Amino acid sequence: MSPAKSTRSAPPTWTLAIAIAAIALVGLGIWIAATPARNPGALIGGPFSLQTGDGKTLTDADMKGRPFLVYFGYTHCPDVCPTTLAQISVVLRRLPDKPIRALFVTVDPERDTPAVMADYVGSFDSRVVGLSGSPAEIAAVEKAYRVYARKGPPQANGDYSMDHSSVVYLMDANGAFVEALNLERPPEEVAKELTGYL
Ligand code: NI
Repeated sequence: MSPAKSTRSAPPTWTLAIAIAAIALVGLGIWIAATPARNPGALIGGPFSLQTGDGKTLTDADMKGRPFLVYFGYTHCPDVCPTTLAQISVVLRRLPDKPIRALFVTVDPERDTPAVMADYVGSFDSRVVGLSGSPAEIAAVEKAYRVYARKGPPQANGDYSMDHSSVVYLMDANGAFVEALNLERPPEEVAKELTGYL
């Protein structure tokens, strides 16, 4: 075997090894990009445009620069929504100097006008902001936050309830999802955790 032959036979082996490595890397990249579980936050949140009680529009751009909470519900809710907003308020009162806001977005824009929402959140911490919007605006923000909400069957008096998911979203200063805030623990523990983000 001449030296020339052996040097010619080596490169194809290396070329193949490099090609396999390159294919593996590309494959890994595609897998990472196609696996939402690796970055679930990328799927929650996004642009929104909603109405406050004083006739102003609040958008995701207005929330930039500070972490914030988002919660979806409705003012006719008999239990879960008022309980959750009360829990949020207890936590916020432990953070008196922190400029963190908690957005309470209605899933029932038919009854919860911006004025109704503003009146309702008056019972809670002043940093809880009541938000409503057109059915299209509400549908868009529900979709962005992966919220489930459905109108229940009407009762004899015409009243109805809304079946809805109940998650308190912690969003970072860029509007990216951080976590679903666990309020089923002592408020001082929740406040301490939030402080770490503020
Ligand atoms: Ni509710």
